[in-house]
Amino acid sequence: MKRRLTFVTILLVVAFAGVSSAGVWETKCLMCHKEGNTMKAPTKAAMLEKHKTGDDFMKAAKASKNPMMKMQKDDVLNAATKELYP
Ligand code: HEC
Repeated sequence: MKRRLTFVTILLVVAFAGVSSAGVWETKCLMCHKEGNTMKAPTKAAMLEKHKTGDDFMKAAKASKNPMMKMQKDDVLNAATKELYP
């Protein structure tokens, strides 16, 4: 019984990790960049409109002086950029 529980837990963890790595934008960015947020973070649609390429987008992300963007890690930004500009 205990063993089976461990197995199920591992499965759940793997499944969950898979989901979160599949959606960096959803898991790491969207909580701030969602429609109607109060901190003036632009939405995905607004940014896709403003920044035509992934390079542009990445530059804007890095150029932001906002402390909330300063704490975003490069590799996470990169992964999110690849999602939004495939
Ligand atoms: C803790 C909240 C928060 C998180 C998490 C966050 N952002 Fe932001 N982001 C902001 C805010 C607030 C701004 C607006 C700051 C400004 O005007 O410089 C911003 C601005 C940006 C900009 C610049 C927009 C422009 O047109 O100048 C980009 C690009 C961006 N974010 C990308 C991302 C990506 C990609 C992620 C996920 C890896 C992310 N952000 C996660 C709060 C956040």
